Order: sequence, then C-alpha cells, then structure tokens
Amino acid sequence: MSNNPSKEAVMAALSTVQEPELHQDLVSLNMIRDVEIKDGVVSMAVVLTTPACPLKSVMERDIRQALASVPGVKDVRVRWDANVRADNRISGRLQLPIRNIIAIASGKGGVGKTTVAVNLAVALAQMGARVGVLDADVYGPNIPQMLGVKHMPPPKNQKLTPAQAHGVQLISMGFMVKPDQAIIWRGPLLHSAIRQLFTDVAWEEVDYMIVDLPPGTGDAQLTLAQSVPLTGGVIVSTPQDVALSDARRGLAAFRQLQVPVLGIIENMAYFVAPDTGQRYDIFGYGGAERAANELSVPFLGRLPLDPRAREGGDKGVPVVVSHPDSEIAQAFREVARQLAAAVSVQSYRPDPQLRII
Ligand SMILES: Nc1ncnc2c1ncn2[C@@H]1O[C@H](COP(=O)(O)OP(=O)(O)O)[C@@H](O)[C@H]1O
Ligand SMILES: [Mg+2]
Repeated sequence: MSNNPSKEAVMAALSTVQEPELHQDLVSLNMIRDVEIKDGVVSMAVVLTTPACPLKSVMERDIRQALASVPGVKDVRVRWDANVRADNRISGRLQLPIRNIIAIASGKGGVGKTTVAVNLAVALAQMGARVGVLDADVYGPNIPQMLGVKHMPPPKNQKLTPAQAHGVQLISMGFMVKPDQAIIWRGPLLHSAIRQLFTDVAWEEVDYMIVDLPPGTGDAQLTLAQSVPLTGGVIVSTPQDVALSDARRGLAAFRQLQVPVLGIIENMAYFVAPDTGQRYDIFGYGGAERAANELSVPFLGRLPLDPRAREGGDKGVPVVVSHPDSEIAQAFREVARQLAAAVSVQSYRPDPQLRII
C-alpha cells in the first residue's frame, strides 16, 4: 500500500492533459471525477462535454501517457461519462429542459437538409445523447414521415407531448397543419407558432434540439432566431456552384443574426456504384469544403449519395438505423461527432454573444 501513488501526483499528471478541442486541461475543466487509487491501479471517470466526442481515444492515450510517468502507477482504468453543457443563452432566457438548439438550414430545397437533420439526430441519440427534433419546415414538414411517425400522442396538462421515434423526441408543424391546408404562414403567426413548439411542448431533457428549417434563407432563420436563442446554425449544401452560392447566403443570414455558424455539411458529395465500387462525383466534389475554407467556417464533413438514404426516408427508418454499417451511416456518425464537438466548443466560449429578444 505504501508505494501507492498519491492523489496529488495523479492529479498533477492529469492536469498536463489537454482537452483537444477546448485547449484547456482536463483538471481545470473539471472533467476528472471519482479518482481512486488502489494497489497502484488508478481508476477515474472522465466526464466529456458530449457522448459523441470525436477525440475520446486521443484523450485516453494522453491520460495513459501522463500517468505512466507517475511512480507507482501500474494500471489506469477510465470510465467515460458525458454531461452536455447547457448553452447559457438558452438557460438564461427560457425555462426549458433544452441545453442546445441547432438550426439546420440550406440555401435551396432538395439538397437533403431534412434527411441530414433526421440522420444526425438519430446518430447522436445512438451515441447516448438526448435528442429532440423540431420540424419547423411549415411548407414541407416531412420529418414525421422520415421517422415513421403517423400520430401525435395526446396532450397532457395542456402541453403537447412529443412523439418518440428511433430514440428521439419529435414535434412537427406537420402535426399542426393538415397536409392540404394552404396556410400562408407569415411574420407574427409563424413566429408564435415556432415559439410554441418550444414552450408549449412537454419536452423531456434535451441535450441537442435539432431544428429543421424551411429551405431558403432569411425569413425562416430570422423568425427562429427571434423566437429562441440558438446555439448555432448548420448549412447543408450539395457540391455544385449554384447550391453553394445559395449556401453562402444562408451563412451570411446566420452571421447577420449573430447566430454562430457551427459548420457546413456537404451532402450527395459522391456516389459509389455498388456493383463496381467505382466512385462518381455527380455534382462535383469538394465545393462545400472549399467554400467553408473561404468563409472561415468549420467543414463538418461529406455524405455520399446513397439510394438507401432515400428509401430510409420514404419508409420511416433512417439509414443510420437500417444500414448502420454502410459508408453513409459511418459518414453520418462522423459528421454527428464533429457537430457535437462544435457545439461543445461553442458552449465554452467565454463570452457568448448575447442576443436580446
Ligand atoms: N445522401 C443522399 N443520398 C440519396 N438520397 C438523398 C440523400 N440526401 C437526400 N436524399 C433524397 O433527396 C430528396 C430530398 O431530400 P430532403 O432531405 O427532403 O431535402 P430538403 O429537406 O433539403 O428539401 C429526398 O428524396 C431524399 O431521400
Ligand atoms: Mg426538407
């Protein structure tokens, strides 16, 4: 027992390990908990800022390396835990069990914005995050179909109950409006409808609320940003120039509204023929990454064109559920990790831009 390393020595070693995204050490970030030292075995819990952490293995390697130099340490046991930080713009202003709100936008329709929103949401939930999906696309609210939800549960205590599907909670404008009802949603009406989808719904604790905006830039982004504080916005684009110039406008709109841009996602980036394995860049390749670099915003990753993504949407089973080992599902998980990391970085910003609503 006497040659057990001291807790002080262990903590001192751990305080040399950096959180790779946040560039601060694990001890000052209060990520190390429950340290126990017994017979030279150091065990601890590491509380990540997201269960979808992309750099877990890097951190584990660095922890092991740092402790290897402490005399008496024979083995290291790391238990992972996660606690997604609440965006203080949200917790400060709304009494809602929602920690982060992420708006998914695109310059134009048909680029796969809804498909991306749904698969990212489900991928985050698969990794252990608590996820809500808010379908704010008043003109084409098709998330219920993509998640295979036909009906809303009955309201309780004067609040709407979100539907549950594939591990995520869901509310959709599609539940409020009959498909053939030609409602022209405008200004104040749209504003209050969107706000109600946050406030009049009995959400269970949500780490990430993914909001699917209608296509196009400006109006919907403006309405949402005025209705609730947003942690950040994401732009989905296909690689060709026309889509990208629309995407740039979407980005500019977020910036004008002082909504932090979490990044750009390139959808339908390429197609791999299942019979030959030959790869085709149908809409060009890499355009979104170049645009992201030019505009100094993070590039969150690219997703292939895969007919199974469309079939999944039509059938109500997202491709990350129906074909979890496919290249597209892996790509969705990687983009989900990058997105979660971008949100973590955002929530640690020392001086978040406050918007008065
Ligand atoms: N990566 C992809 N591979 C294959 N089909 C896709 C992909 N992304 C989207 N789609 C299909 O493209 C169509 C438009 O996608 P959708 O998500 O509805 O776009 P948006 O919300 O931008 O209008 C849908 O039929 C969808 O299934
Ligand atoms: Mg859509």
